[in-house]
Amino acid sequence: MITRRRLLLAAAAAPLALSAAGCLRGANASAVEEPRSLPIPPLATVRVGADGVRRFELTAQPGTTEMMPGKHTPTWGYNGSILGPTLRARRGETVSCTVTNSLPEPTSVHWHGMHVPARSDGGPHQPITVGGTWHAQWTVNQPAATLWYHPHPHGVTEKHVYRGLSGFFLVDDDIADGLDLPRHYGVDDIPLVIQDRRFTDVGTLDENDDDKFGLLGNTIVTNGITGAHLAVRTGLLRLRILNGSSSRLFNLAFADERDFHLIATDGGLLTNPVPLSRIQLSPAERAEIVVALTAGETTRLRALPVEPRDGLDDPARFGFDDTFDILTLRAEPELTAAPPIPDALATIAALVEPGTPATRTFDLRWYTINGQRMDMNRIDLTVPLDTTEVWLVRNVHDWPHNFHIHDVQFQITAIDGSVPPAHLSGWKDTVYTEPGRAYTLAMRFADYADAVFPYMYHCHLLHHEDQGMMGQFLVLAPDQVPAPMAMPGMDMGSHGGH
Ligand code: C2O
Ligand code: CU
Ligand code: CU
Repeated sequence: MITRRRLLLAAAAAPLALSAAGCLRGANASAVEEPRSLPIPPLATVRVGADGVRRFELTAQPGTTEMMPGKHTPTWGYNGSILGPTLRARRGETVSCTVTNSLPEPTSVHWHGMHVPARSDGGPHQPITVGGTWHAQWTVNQPAATLWYHPHPHGVTEKHVYRGLSGFFLVDDDIADGLDLPRHYGVDDIPLVIQDRRFTDVGTLDENDDDKFGLLGNTIVTNGITGAHLAVRTGLLRLRILNGSSSRLFNLAFADERDFHLIATDGGLLTNPVPLSRIQLSPAERAEIVVALTAGETTRLRALPVEPRDGLDDPARFGFDDTFDILTLRAEPELTAAPPIPDALATIAALVEPGTPATRTFDLRWYTINGQRMDMNRIDLTVPLDTTEVWLVRNVHDWPHNFHIHDVQFQITAIDGSVPPAHLSGWKDTVYTEPGRAYTLAMRFADYADAVFPYMYHCHLLHHEDQGMMGQFLVLAPDQVPAPMAMPGMDMGSHGGH
């Protein structure tokens, strides 16, 4: 009885609390709900030895985080209770990452968007046991970009990411450094991971999956907290935005629908800034945008209903009708003037002639790719090293899906046979696939061959991925034949080996 009565009281009190908070947004501030500053993930501590190798250390660990004011939510994080430090390296540098697992279950760390040797990729074939340590090393060889890292344990990626594990990995290069773009980390160059969460009454993360579609939260957390505010000190602000959600798409815009410039997508800078008033991101996609603010103003980054929705079974069910406030931007009374955005950003050489036909097709349906679900012990395809391939990816289903490929950044050469829009003209590692449409992707497999360890391609709606909407490929040198290791507990009926 007492419990039930408490619940009723809590329910009755909740609308009051909400309307009090609502008032604060208007005229007068009070102590009830102080706006909270957007947390900026710290830059990772790095040790550079005599060999020039940049050494990072990450520990995946449990903790508690004040995601909502006054509530202490059990979460997981890297080197802290939630999210992780921002790793940063320049093209040409060798990076070494040591990851320790202090979680109560196995995990892994995948460098999403990074061109890495398969054994350092951190996918389901590189699990880190409880209490164990894993080591990855590679030389950064790709354009400046906003990449990220996250767990990739077989079948439970959604849970690990949802509990808080993800961080940014920024790649720098001379081309980006030679451009007059906002670049002062945490000041006018802001990493922003946007995620939807659902909280229980006591403030724990609600992990009750909609077992068909995946977790869809009703509360937005930005860099790990709700209701984030950012004080802006410069006339131009660069936001490096990551959709870190499990399954929710975001159609991002400012409250007054002002224009901004898209300068980079998943794999780096575009050739030219693209003026937009909205940018849509599906899970794992990134966008770097630059927006102008005027002194003293306040605006908000928002998520609007998601378009288009043709061919979807039930758009509302996937959260396509929802709107959210994501971040309040308050410009200081005086702003540091910023130079205009450069007209030309980077050169992107086409990987293939326009119209080059695809040699492989990937049909996305339900939890399958080409009718199959993930089998850790099945290599779905092999790719010869040093080849450029063209893949056709079709969503032949009435659910939202997207498509991500490990190891490479790709170019979208066509969508339903037509040239893609400017905002999809740059390097991508993840593309949203609308129902009924076909996406032609070109990518080059270079540098790293491995007969033992595969890379993955998959839908990055994490529940779909966990349900097996994933395949594996080996990149092979001319003299190599596939020699994958049998993974325990998978579909080969053996539990030995490894
Ligand atoms: Cu971001 Cu295979 O993943
Ligand atoms: Cu990836
Ligand atoms: Cu999917």
